[in-house]
Amino acid sequence: MKLLERASKGSENKNRVRGRIAVYDTQKAPPRLIKIDEGSCADLIESLATTTYRECQQKGSSFPYVVLRETIENLIHANFAEVVVSVLDNGNTVRITDQGPGVEDVHQAFEPGFTTATHEMKRYIRGVGSGLPVIKEIMTFSGGRVEIGGNLGCGTVVTLRLPREKSSPAPILSKRQASILSLVTELGSAGPSDVSRELGAGLSTVHRELTLLEEKGLLKSNEQGKRYCTQKGLSCLNKTVAPGIEQ
Ligand SMILES: Nc1ncnc2c1ncn2[C@@H]1O[C@H](COP(=O)(O)OP(=O)(O)O)[C@@H](O)[C@H]1O
Ligand SMILES: [Mg+2]
Repeated sequence: MKLLERASKGSENKNRVRGRIAVYDTQKAPPRLIKIDEGSCADLIESLATTTYRECQQKGSSFPYVVLRETIENLIHANFAEVVVSVLDNGNTVRITDQGPGVEDVHQAFEPGFTTATHEMKRYIRGVGSGLPVIKEIMTFSGGRVEIGGNLGCGTVVTLRLPREKSSPAPILSKRQASILSLVTELGSAGPSDVSRELGAGLSTVHRELTLLEEKGLLKSNEQGKRYCTQKGLSCLNKTVAPGIEQ
C-alpha cells in the first residue's frame, strides 16, 4: 500500500494526503470548498471528520460524530483516492465519495466481522469489520439511513441521510432570550461577560439564559467557550418577531 507507507513517513509535499469537503450552503450556488491537506493518514481522517462534524453542527444538524468518523476511516480502503465529502441539505445529508476499488459486495460489507483491512491499514483503523454495522445501527436508530453505491467510473459513494428536521413552530422565547440571541448573532460570537455587559443583565442570569438557548439548539459553543448562533437560531430569530415573543 504505497500511499499509506509514504504518508506515514513524512511531510514533504509529495507525501501529503488530501481530501476536499464541499459544503452546499444553498442549492443555487456552487459549494464552498474546504481543502484538507495533511502529512499522515491519521491526521487526514481526524481533520476530515472534525471539520465535517463542525460544518454540520453550524448548520444546526446533529449528525452523529461516530458515523462521520467511521465512514471517513473507511476511505483507507480506497487509498484516499480523490476523496470528496459533501455536506448537503442543511447538514442532514453527508455524501462521501472516493475513486478507490469500490465495494464488491455491499450486503456482506454491512455484516459484522467482514473486513478486507490489511495489516498496514490496521495501524490507522481497528479493522475488525464493525464500522458499517455500527453506522447502519446508529443511522437507523436516528430515523435516517445509509446507502452505498458505486461512483461514476470507479470507487464508492456512501450517502448518509438524517431525517429532515420537521418544521416545528419556532421555540417561544422570552424578551430577554430574544435579545441575547439577537446580540450573539450581531457580534458573531459572545461569552457570558460580553452579553452581561452589553445588556446590563446579571452574569448568573445570562449564564442561565445562554444554557437554555443552547439546550433549545439555538446557540452552540465554539472552542473558546463563546456562543454562536446556529442555523436554527437564525431561523428562530427571523420568526420570533414581536408576536412570538413571550413576555
Ligand atoms: N470506501 C470504501 N472503499 C472500498 N471498500 C470499502 C469502503 N468502505 C468500506 N469498504 C469495505 O467494507 C468492509 C467493511 O467495512 P467496515 O464495516 O467499516 O469494517 P473495517 O473498516 O473494519 O474493515 C471493508 O473491510 C471494505 O472491504
Ligand atoms: Mg471501517
